[in-house]
Amino acid sequence: MCEYKTNFTQVVLSLFLFVRSAMSDPEFIQLSERDSQQDQQQQRDSDEEEAALNAPQSREHKRLMRESSAVILLLGFGFLLWILVLISVQQLIISSSPGHFNSVRARKHLERITSVGPRTVGSPENEITTVNYLLDQIEQIRSESEAGPHSIIVDVQRPSGCFSISCYDRLTNIAVKLQPKTSAQHFMLANCHFDSVANSPGASDDAVGCSVMLEVLHSLANLSTPLKHGVIFLFNGAEETYLQASHGFITQHPWARQVRAFVNLEAAGVGGKELVFQTGPRNPWLVQAYARAAVHPFATVVGQEIFQSGLIPSGTDFYIFSHFGNIPGIDLAFIENGFLYHTKYDTPDRIHTDSIQRAGDNILSVLQHLVMSDELADSSEYRHGNMVFFDLLGLMMLAYPAHVGTVINYITAVATVIYLGGKCLLTSSVGCVLARHIICAAGRYMRNLVCAVFVLILSWFFSLLMVLLVAWLVTLMGRSMFWYSNLYAAVYLYGPAAVCVLLLIHTLVKNRCYRSMSRVDLAELFFDGSLLLWCFVLLFFTHRGWCSAYVPMMMVLFPLISKLLLTKLFRARGASLLYSVLYLTGLAVPYVYILFLIHLVFEVFTPIMGRSKEEIPPDIILASLVTVATVILSSYFIHFIYLSHSTKRVLAVLGSVFTLMFVLVSCGLFFPYSADPSSPRPKRVFIQHITRSFHTLNGSLQSSDSGLCINDMDYTGMQHITPHIPQINDSIGTHCQDWLPYYGFTRKSWYLPAPEVSPKAALEFQLLSRQETQWGTVKMTFEVKGPSHMSLSLSPRAEASLSGWSFGSGMLRHSGESFIFYSHGLDAPAWTFWIEISPLKSSDTSPDEGLISLAISAHYFSGSDGRSEPLESFLKRFPDWVFSSSWISTYHVYRY
Ligand SMILES: *[C@@H]1O[C@H](CO)[C@@H](O)[C@H](O)[C@H]1NC(C)=O
Ligand SMILES: *[C@@H]1O[C@H](CO)[C@@H](O)[C@H](O)[C@H]1NC(C)=O
Repeated sequence: MCEYKTNFTQVVLSLFLFVRSAMSDPEFIQLSERDSQQDQQQQRDSDEEEAALNAPQSREHKRLMRESSAVILLLGFGFLLWILVLISVQQLIISSSPGHFNSVRARKHLERITSVGPRTVGSPENEITTVNYLLDQIEQIRSESEAGPHSIIVDVQRPSGCFSISCYDRLTNIAVKLQPKTSAQHFMLANCHFDSVANSPGASDDAVGCSVMLEVLHSLANLSTPLKHGVIFLFNGAEETYLQASHGFITQHPWARQVRAFVNLEAAGVGGKELVFQTGPRNPWLVQAYARAAVHPFATVVGQEIFQSGLIPSGTDFYIFSHFGNIPGIDLAFIENGFLYHTKYDTPDRIHTDSIQRAGDNILSVLQHLVMSDELADSSEYRHGNMVFFDLLGLMMLAYPAHVGTVINYITAVATVIYLGGKCLLTSSVGCVLARHIICAAGRYMRNLVCAVFVLILSWFFSLLMVLLVAWLVTLMGRSMFWYSNLYAAVYLYGPAAVCVLLLIHTLVKNRCYRSMSRVDLAELFFDGSLLLWCFVLLFFTHRGWCSAYVPMMMVLFPLISKLLLTKLFRARGASLLYSVLYLTGLAVPYVYILFLIHLVFEVFTPIMGRSKEEIPPDIILASLVTVATVILSSYFIHFIYLSHSTKRVLAVLGSVFTLMFVLVSCGLFFPYSADPSSPRPKRVFIQHITRSFHTLNGSLQSSDSGLCINDMDYTGMQHITPHIPQINDSIGTHCQDWLPYYGFTRKSWYLPAPEVSPKAALEFQLLSRQETQWGTVKMTFEVKGPSHMSLSLSPRAEASLSGWSFGSGMLRHSGESFIFYSHGLDAPAWTFWIEISPLKSSDTSPDEGLISLAISAHYFSGSDGRSEPLESFLKRFPDWVFSSSWISTYHVYRY
């Protein structure tokens, strides 16, 4: 038969040789050299080897070493790359920048802004203290740079409006226009928000963004050479209320029309590096500017494609600017430590000054680059196309047009096909000259390859099945999320399970199905199988137009090139240390990148399990992620199984690790949450002290009740809290989140009776007018005076439908429940709105039912109205690993 092999084999063997010689055992070196010389005698391989060894103990010893050397090699390789990834993630600043961004001053801003505590929309902390601080600082910068070539204009905007399901009134935007004194027509927008969610100091989200913007303004204002275009800095005061303030700016501010592109600094975590996680839409020149100018690049198009697929439950002002303003931009966010996002732990001391430095350097240099560019003035010229972009461990940034990426991807795929297809023809020169013989060999090779691919996919499938079974058991045992405070626990439980199944299936296949083939041929075959599968993935991604296709492209290109290169080098030099190093180097590039992406995915998705509204058990999701990572990482090492004599010991070790971990997990050794100040892993709970009142048709109070509504954010529910507070158990489970629809991401709720709340600024609700229109509908106008955050839901009776309202037609639902969220700043007038109802059959309408019921919930976050004695003493009973965001609410139902 044809010998279509196999320098790769020799390379792998030379790796063994390398390790063995490192272990300086002469017997093994001999063996391996013999191995590499007997390529032509594969069929007799194992027989001969056994014959070559007389003593059974020595054979046993040899096999052990052979297996362990491969394992040591792989572990060492993986460990080395993992260390590289960790270093790259933790190294905030690689080279000190030549720029003039002063992170010490930015840090001072950060500390001053956060010192007032939570800054919810409509609170004096947000609307007065923070606004005054920012205005003071801006004024200082303005007076300091008065003599320079730039002018600074400040405008405080108080926008009101409605969009989607939200309305707002007199929010606060501070807009600062920096332009050359000769004036400018085209502007970059730099956006941050200074408000925060309730009960969080909001240091990363997003006080740090505004501190960085202040300092960037400072540096730009102080430049001695004039900028070509201008920059508008928007310090917006209401992002946490469904992105309202940026909507107010981009739809109403007179400067908005001059904005050509924007940069937005946000947070989905606390501290660390700021990731460019989305850009565009289209407008490749923006990514190019970032790629050229950013001093400490950290960006990947994979992040953009994941975020825009909607897997991550959050939105940023990016959406408002691009959707309502039709303006392209760059969205940056801190993503590390998402466990602390929107909690009391989002404090300035968790943000390293180097984090501020790198964010400042990047934003300053990118803005400076863009305001000096020609593209900004003529951005519609450069609008078309997408970009593939990513950084390599923060060392360099690559960005190229998507169509170039497509060409590269197809070339790579074609090269793979040529390599695989040409294999039989190439090898024919070794021994097969007859055409028939070639066809027969090619046919056999194809058949084997298809089988190998099938076996690979089968092994993945069973691996996933096994791991999901374990995750399901863990969930059944009530140990869900045991990895929340220590992710490695999940890696050591699910990882070995996945690898065990892979090993087991391939070992079985090797021993049962492939007895006639030599180990080296088999190894070669499975390498080709992995290559082919990655090639399929590459083609699929490219065909779908996903820019992330560069990842499978790397996973095809590098192994393929190193294999082809090594073939030549081997012919020239023979087996040597050089080959081992080169082979590892060839795999090192894609592997280190894949490890980096895996790190990023876990970094982002693990914390999301702590605030997920999904009903899918989080262990199922995490276990699937671990399995996918295992499958990806194993792809170019699976064939090692076919080179080894036995996998018994590895299986035994992995099996023991898995069993031990499973026992430990089922005993409850790993507790999901932690209050350790160095790395807290809080359980998130929302608690609202509420009073509900129901009114009759004639407006009098019909009934009322009061209680504490406890909303849960993750899968474990109250399971770990009930032992501490026995009153909170499933007997009080209800749906009180439906009455208080704010912060929509809750799953379940529990309701405990409590004394009544009596906010000083009680809600005033009034029907101003009611009139029958000439086309038979009823139009009612209402006026509401209440706290800064309110929501309204309208449910027409079965005999009526909602035919119009003052909030725009977008979210109007004629039947069923319609929902509107409303927030206002200080000194806002009463909220006035009208609704129009058409009675379907006016004669049938029973007078005691009415046409519609209106439910208004009012949320008190700040001041004395935001707290109550029963709430405070209830909060004290929670264990310290619970982060409870709490406030006071009232809920009123009126019927008309
Ligand atoms: C601004 O420029 C002045 C004079 O050029 C200089 O003294 C001052 O230190 C600069 N400030 C900053 C923040 O660079
Ligand atoms: C469950 O909660 C209810 C109401 O809070 C309480 O009366 C009951 O004793 C609790 N059950 C247990 C087993 O603690």
